[in-house]
Order: sequence, then C-alpha cells, then structure tokens
Amino acid sequence: MVAVIDVKDVSKSFKIHHERHQSLKERLLHPRSGSTEDFQALRDVSFTVGQGETVGIVGHNGSGKSTLLKCICGVLKPTSGEIRLRGSLAALLELGAGFQTELSGRENVYLYGSMLGFSRKMVDGIFDAVVDFSEIEQFIDTQVKFYSSGMYVRLAFAVAVNVDPDILVVDEVLAVGDERFQAKCVDRIQRFKEEGRTILFVTHNADQVRALCDRAVVLDSGDMVADGPTQDSLRIFREHMMLDAVVRDAAHLLGTIQIESVTTLEGSFDVKSGAGLHFDVAITAQVAYSGNFVMELFSRTGLLVSRSDAQGSPVNLVPGRNHISVDLAQIPLLDGTYDLNVGVLDHHGNTVIAWSEKAASIQVTYDGREGGLVELGASITQR
Ligand SMILES: Nc1ncnc2c1ncn2[C@@H]1O[C@H](COP(=O)(O)OP(=O)(O)O)[C@@H](O)[C@H]1O
Ligand SMILES: [Mg+2]
Repeated sequence: MVAVIDVKDVSKSFKIHHERHQSLKERLLHPRSGSTEDFQALRDVSFTVGQGETVGIVGHNGSGKSTLLKCICGVLKPTSGEIRLRGSLAALLELGAGFQTELSGRENVYLYGSMLGFSRKMVDGIFDAVVDFSEIEQFIDTQVKFYSSGMYVRLAFAVAVNVDPDILVVDEVLAVGDERFQAKCVDRIQRFKEEGRTILFVTHNADQVRALCDRAVVLDSGDMVADGPTQDSLRIFREHMMLDAVVRDAAHLLGTIQIESVTTLEGSFDVKSGAGLHFDVAITAQVAYSGNFVMELFSRTGLLVSRSDAQGSPVNLVPGRNHISVDLAQIPLLDGTYDLNVGVLDHHGNTVIAWSEKAASIQVTYDGREGGLVELGASITQR
C-alpha cells in the first residue's frame, strides 16, 4: 500500500512561560521574571497512513491530537521528526483555523479554495455545491465574525469536501452543530471513504470512530499508546480513559451512586485455587440509573489479571439499596493475594460513575506444584 501520510518520530514541545510575580507593578519592576519551561505535547509519534485508509486519532483532552494534526497540515513545525505527505490535503482544524473573520462567507470560500490550490474559476465551479451543502445561503455574504460556531463549521466542511482533496483531515469538527448536520457530514465522509480517499479523523466520539475508521491511533499525554484495528485501539483508549475518569470522579464525586460494600457469605475472601467464589456488592443509589457493572482483579505486582466485560453487564439501579451478585465459577490462580476493584460505568462502558478501588483482597491458596500466576493444568507426557 502506498503511504500517503508518513509520520516519523515526531515530537513537539511548546515553551511555557511561568509568571513568578502576580501584580502588574511587580511585572513592571521585574519584566523578565518567571521561568520558561518546555512542555512536550507529542513524544516520538510514528505511524503511516496508506492510500484509502480512514484512520481515527483518539485520546483524552490535551493528549496532543490537535497538535499532531497541525503538524501534519504544516500549521505547526515539529520540534523533531519528519512528516511526509503524498497528494493534496484539505484540513478542517479546530475552530478559528483557516477563515478570516472580517471577510464574508463567500470571500472565505474563495480564500480557502485558493489556499488549497484552487483557482478562482475552479472555486466558481464548486461554489453552488458548497453553499448548498452548508445550508447557510442566506448568510453567505455576511462577515464570518457574525457566524455561530455551527454555521462556521458547516461552511468550512462544505468547502473541504468539495475541493476534491486526496487527503481529508478533520479535527473534532463534527462535535459542533446539530445532530442532523453531523449525520450529513458523517455520510459525506463515508462517501469520501468509498471514493478511495484518505481520511484522518480526530474525535472523542468512540461511536463515530467505530463507524468510520478502519484503524485508530491512541494518544495519551503526548505518547502514542496504540495503533491498530479500531476495536483494539478503542479498548486501549477506554482503559486509559477509565483511569482518568476515576480520578475525575473522585474529585467531584457525583455522590449519587456509591459502592457500599463487597462481602461474601462466609465473611472471608480466602479461596482455594480452582474453587469458585461468590460475592455480593451492595450499591446505594439516590437516583435510578442504568449502566454496566464491572470488576477487575489485579495481582500484587500490579498486573491486570482480569476485567469483566464493561459493556455486557447491564445493571438497572433503583433508588435505595441494590445488590449485585457476582459468581466466579472458578479461580485458576496460584498462591497469592489479588485486589478486587468494582465499579459502575455508564451504559457505553466508558465513563466511571462509581468506583471502589481495592474493595476486597482475595487470598488464594494453592497446593499444587505449578509456578506463576495461573494453573494451566498441563499434563506432560513423553511418547
Ligand atoms: N501553542 C501552545 N502553547 C503551549 N501549549 C500548547 C499549545 N498548543 C497546545 N498546547 C498544549 O499541548 C497539549 C496538547 O494539546 P492539544 O494537541 O490541543 O490536545 P487535544 O487536541 O488532544 O485536546 C495540551 O496540554 C495543550 O495545553
Ligand atoms: Mg483538540
């Protein structure tokens, strides 16, 4: 496959200036005070995108998605590394990029077109289609500064998809505007895809990535933590988000749903390797809530031993006390202590609503002779 976007070892750092003095007076007295620090927004990111591929870039806020796209589009210069493109590129970057606010919508269509290598005549040829797609005909001669963000995006998107680019780069744009227009854009991107063009697509909407992308790259605090089939990448993204969401929720705990206790009938979490375990999770809710229940088991070395299906365990909590019953058919673990986390996620399985970290410790005793983490029951014979 021909690589149309080749990102190699790209790093980008920004200089951040810290003001040491607060007041204006102090600033006047010490104009050069404070310190400058390098903030690394991208760290050694490498991937290639082949002709006709639709690749999603996902990551939490501030993970470097926009910075990466700006580097690819040439709006920012990487601090180190290299980016190669093959073919013409049209970009829909974050709001504010591209259009001249003093100019009218019409003038901006021509300006934007010329930036993408379109002559006046060529823009004439697509103008009606652009205005038609944007559905803002009556405002086309209004200065863009009077546009709402939704109108702005409509026009920008309409130009980008009509200038016939080989590569389309879209940053979060589809989050703006009403749902009907969003759906229209998704349709258009789908058609783009069918025409065999290459698309790089940034969003935090996992459903859109799932629907449109063959592959996804995951960024976490400037590091690329995954590049693979959409499903695999989204799972990794969710794992990173989950850690994030737990922290966020702890800070301003909604408080409406809480894990009260995790208990066993016998009163202990001591089990024999190979035996089953049954426990009860008491959850109090102040409101009715439908979400998913999830449990995780970690070894004391910090290894995730198992996480239950976060999307396939629906629970319908009612106000008051709720009981969730968890049955582990058999625990094939060897000797050791394992920490149990339990929580309630939203119905997509990607936002933590309630969480109990180390809700219980499971003590496994094993008297066989296998070593390691799990009993495989290997029988070894010579023939
Ligand atoms: N021009 C800039 N100067 C300083 N820091 C920046 C600049 N642009 C982005 N950043 C920082 O880089 C990080 C990544 O930002 P961004 O690429 O916009 O993330 P995302 O699009 O994934 O939300 C953020 O911490 C952001 O504050
Ligand atoms: Mg962004």
